[in-house]
Amino acid sequence: MEAFNDFRKQSLPLIEKEMENFINDYTANERLKEAMLYSIKAGGKRFRPLLILAVLRSFNKEAQIHDYQVAAALEMVHTYSLIHDDLPAMDDDDLRRGKPTNHKIFGEAHAILAGDGLLTAAFQLLAISQIESNQKILLIQLLSKASGTQGMVAGQAGDLQGENRSLSLNELAEVHEKKTGALIEFALLAGGILANQTEEVVDLLGTFAQHLGLAFQIKDDLLDATSSEEALGKQVGRDEELNKSTYPSLLGLAGAKAALTDQLSMGSSILTIIAQTSSEFHSELLQELVEQLRL
Ligand code: IPE
Ligand code: IPE
Ligand code: MG
Ligand code: MG
Ligand code: MG
Repeated sequence: MEAFNDFRKQSLPLIEKEMENFINDYTANERLKEAMLYSIKAGGKRFRPLLILAVLRSFNKEAQIHDYQVAAALEMVHTYSLIHDDLPAMDDDDLRRGKPTNHKIFGEAHAILAGDGLLTAAFQLLAISQIESNQKILLIQLLSKASGTQGMVAGQAGDLQGENRSLSLNELAEVHEKKTGALIEFALLAGGILANQTEEVVDLLGTFAQHLGLAFQIKDDLLDATSSEEALGKQVGRDEELNKSTYPSLLGLAGAKAALTDQLSMGSSILTIIAQTSSEFHSELLQELVEQLRL
């Protein structure tokens, strides 16, 4: 199986084309379209859509148009969450994906609307996609749960309520699970469903995702405390300035690094279990992705 970086290079243009074409064809206001495309085209790692496609590849399935539509919908929800996360009323950030944040260019009102637009467009894209209808309804249910008041939005509320007050480690893990873990979990579940896997295997992919999601946010918080604006394309040190509850603030840098390593090791061992459960599953691509999250 090819290396993750080759897989990424090959998959990215198709995910991006799907998002850009949809926004171009389905947005009835030019300034709004410009604001939406600004954040979509700013780049980003595309971690979540790549996960969906990596799961399919791990089961030896060739991705079809409808798979790219699901991948694009997920990245649109994620990009909306970043536009709103950066607003002055939330994390108040000036830089995202190496560029001024959406509200710095288009103003707060249009940034809010660009986020609203991306969120709604994601579900419109799923609804009109070429996914088989039973799977389509299930994926719409799962993405709405992961994005909304049981998932990302609830987690963002918990994150803001955790400013200026120390959450317990369990409370913090729950915030991370919702604000970041939920969309990552959707990626793994969607990949398993689109690859027509059994409930047992899809559940295991969900368990893997829980470790991956927590690891992802712990790493984000570690980088906020230790990396640079140039390397990340976003401001650093904001978590401390905003008095956020994070793994580094609760456990110190060494403790947070150990927690990251633990979560990645647990994720990796779930991949081994999936390979033992399904003979169709090749774990190499996802194992490599786990390795790339190590600091
Ligand atoms: C940033 O997500 C927000 C978190 C949930 C940590 P990413 O690190 O995936 O940001 P992009 O998409 O690469 O810009
Ligand atoms: C964001 O977490 C999680 C989202 C749901 C957007 P952060 O606030 O830590 O993400 P960054 O560091 O701004 O990318
Ligand atoms: Mg935030
Ligand atoms: Mg933020
Ligand atoms: Mg952060």
